Amino acid sequence: MTLGVGLLGIMAALPQELGDLVDAMRLAGNVRTETIGRREYHVGTAHGVPCVATLARVGKVAAAATASALIHVFGVEAIVFTGVAGGVRKDVRVGDIVIGDTLMQHDLDASPLFPRFEVPLLGMARFAANAALSEALANACTAFLADEHAALEARFGVHPPRLHRGMIVSGDRFVSSHAEVNALRAALPEALAVEMEGAAIAQICYEHEVPCAVVRTVSDTADAEAPESFLEFLHALGGAYSSGILRRFLAAKA
Ligand code: ADE
Repeated sequence: MTLGVGLLGIMAALPQELGDLVDAMRLAGNVRTETIGRREYHVGTAHGVPCVATLARVGKVAAAATASALIHVFGVEAIVFTGVAGGVRKDVRVGDIVIGDTLMQHDLDASPLFPRFEVPLLGMARFAANAALSEALANACTAFLADEHAALEARFGVHPPRLHRGMIVSGDRFVSSHAEVNALRAALPEALAVEMEGAAIAQICYEHEVPCAVVRTVSDTADAEAPESFLEFLHALGGAYSSGILRRFLAAKA
């Protein structure tokens, strides 16, 4: 798909996770801001691409409502979600980037009426991200990691950040104990990372046939240290990762 036509929706949960996107839109010219359902939607152009940028806030309900507004009110042709996540698979470290090729709600369980994880009546548990969008995001992430290699190596030492692609799982819980992250690993061995919005957006986008993609930087490893690691990462690096990835992604699409 080309993103040169129509509008792109860009979402994050928290302000740091949107990086400098709204500032970049303001620098590029006029930005119109609309408030709907207590959320601000900024309509303008970022790095040459017409887009609507907004903060969903935290959780699946917030994410689904915001994605719906992007689709129905603003008519976006695709949605990209950016932000941080907890690493689940053991080789997914703080500072790594994960692109969610598949998304799934790890806390959805209407069993025994429906299979665990399945969205009742939709008959699906896994939602695929759009391949072309995910590929373009992966290219942006690879360029970001290469360009920032020296700074990232200074910060992360012998384990310079890597890009992973695969399954991201979402649920209305901040996962922050060894017991819980181990339970996730056991239930969903494919899960690379956990967050609280991606699968909800993927479901809404599937239902409305709108392409979507999710990119997450790993802020913590969803264990007992997660709350501290999450806050430190979010404030120190969350914005730099999102800004760096989005800038390269949008500039390549312009
Ligand atoms: N987002 C970032 N870290 C997370 C975690 N550990 N659990 C859920 N969402 C997250």
